[in-house]
Amino acid sequence: MGLLGAGISEVIATTRENAAPIGIHCRESDLSAVLFKGSHTARNVARDGWLVANVVQDPVLFVRTAFDDLPASSFVSIPGLGWDRLSGADGYVACSAEVVRETPEALMVRFSVVREEVLTRRCVPFNRARCAVIEATVHATRFRRNRDPGLYHLIRHHISVVRRCGGPGELEALRILEEWLHDMPDKNSG
Ligand SMILES: Cc1cc2nc3c(=O)[nH]c(=O)nc-3n(C[C@H](O)[C@H](O)[C@H](O)COP(=O)(O)O)c2cc1C
Repeated sequence: MGLLGAGISEVIATTRENAAPIGIHCRESDLSAVLFKGSHTARNVARDGWLVANVVQDPVLFVRTAFDDLPASSFVSIPGLGWDRLSGADGYVACSAEVVRETPEALMVRFSVVREEVLTRRCVPFNRARCAVIEATVHATRFRRNRDPGLYHLIRHHISVVRRCGGPGELEALRILEEWLHDMPDKNSG
């Protein structure tokens, strides 16, 4: 078993000069992802045929990369491959990527691991707020597309968990997320 365990691992995917959170599916050791068209990640993977899955605990990075670009200083090149990874990653899995199916909305991509590396020794306790930041952010990226009031309701629930259980990192992530939400019209706070 490699770094990306069975089920869906939420990572920050780097492609050429870009970073965004995605879920990597691992079923019977096959790695894959569904990449929605219109994203830089889908465009870059289809063009370049590689993606690096960065293992990251920092909730601020998840929110920033979901909605915004990172400065060039956040990336380093993997020696010998020349592929971009995050300089702050706890570890990474560098993959070649093949588009195996395409629908009007998304690309189904299969990955083959080229190199993986653990970069830090950390022992991170489970924290509900960190999980809630991830939940709220994934819902917010979908809400941005469809303005589903049910999603907005879920986001408010996860925000209340972050307020209750979060430390400074989670609360900073929440501040950034709420700024983005504030700028999205047609919210339904019900
Ligand atoms: C935790 C999390 C998981 C996500 N998983 C996916 C995914 O599997 N596929 C996808 O296309 N978008 C996913 N997203 C949404 C993208 O991160 C989002 O659309 C982002 O803006 C794409 O950025 P880009 O244009 O720089 O690629 C996820 C977002 C979050 C917060």
